[in-house]
Amino acid sequence: MPSRRQPPPRSLDDLLRRHVIVCTGSGGVGKTTTSAALALRAADAGQRAIVCTIDPARRLAQSLGLDELDNSPRQVPDSAFGGDPPRGELWAMMLDMKTTFDDMILDLTTPERARAIFENPFYKHVSSTLAGTQEYMAMEKLWELHEEGRWELIVIDTPPTRSALDFLDAPRRLTDFLEGRLLKLLLWPTIAAGRGYLRALSFGTQVMLKTVTRVTGSELFADVASFFAAFEGMYGSFKARAERVKELLVAPRTAFVVVATPHEAMLREARYFAERLAEEHAPLGAVIVNRAHSVPSAPGLEDPLATEARTSDPALAWALRTYASWRELSLREDSLVCSVLGDIGRAPLWRVPDFAEEVHDIPALRRVAEALAGS
Ligand SMILES: Nc1ncnc2c1ncn2[C@@H]1O[C@H](COP(=O)(O)OP(=O)(O)O)[C@@H](O)[C@H]1O
Ligand SMILES: [Mg+2]
Repeated sequence: MPSRRQPPPRSLDDLLRRHVIVCTGSGGVGKTTTSAALALRAADAGQRAIVCTIDPARRLAQSLGLDELDNSPRQVPDSAFGGDPPRGELWAMMLDMKTTFDDMILDLTTPERARAIFENPFYKHVSSTLAGTQEYMAMEKLWELHEEGRWELIVIDTPPTRSALDFLDAPRRLTDFLEGRLLKLLLWPTIAAGRGYLRALSFGTQVMLKTVTRVTGSELFADVASFFAAFEGMYGSFKARAERVKELLVAPRTAFVVVATPHEAMLREARYFAERLAEEHAPLGAVIVNRAHSVPSAPGLEDPLATEARTSDPALAWALRTYASWRELSLREDSLVCSVLGDIGRAPLWRVPDFAEEVHDIPALRRVAEALAGS
């Protein structure tokens, strides 16, 4: 559907006119911080905005009024804004993977079947540890928030996936798993025929079964079988749901933001992710280089160390050496960013400085947003 796509945003405020923003990137680069800053900026501009965070730093969560683990949206209280509340409304929530999974099942099936699923030990395992579940539940929550229709802007933080692929593949991987064709084929005859059957299986299948056994932590074949039986009849609606989520992810009013720090590995990951988004026809809104050191050139100080060599004032010499090292770091980062992300396409590249202190409260989030706006 490339014809439905919008051109990349011209500015931060242009980006914030989208309906959905998904913040992605490696762990620790500032996804949660950026997500909160984007939603806050939209609220300051008069919108009703929500940020759905994943594992926020404790102090940031407290600043947003989220001190209990709570899977439902709350409006950030006026007291959080230090006398300067937004024109609009800022809402925040923390994603609870398990509760989101439960709610989704309640929505997709009858209460009796849902209860059978919840009581199944294998479900407990799947809903909390299966690879890709957290990614998928973030998207499920996005869908729910979108369906509620209360927010003009929804900003979704994403889990710290090591591989960028995990995130985009999550809906498909989870449906494949829950459809469990392969797994069912393997398990039913095993349960029916007992261990004798296991000996007759090919080596590959035995390895697969052993893996399943190990993954589930014990001999849980019966649980697995009843789990799939309880899911019977739900695959269709589950798949339809996953497809609607995917549609929302590539909708014209959705944008992905890729966050990185100015380190080669993080920038490469960001690049890879941007390419992957393009393959999926998912719209890249911006690439953000967070914790950057941008030290501008000073006229007449092109070579600060040469100037330092000519001065006899120790304080001035120290200042010049300090400036020289920061300037050098800034140039190194710029050339790294250019060489890794230089030809990434038409999405804008914005920088946020590395602040002296961690970004834990509303004033600090506003500084992040200001930096993005001025980038
Ligand atoms: N520009 C910045 N300057 C200083 N500290 C930052 C900046 N951006 C993020 N941080 C801090 O870095 C830590 C990790 O940020 P966070 O947003 O939680 O990363 P992620 O969600 O990608 O794991 C947090 O303690 C946050 O306050
Ligand atoms: Mg985070």
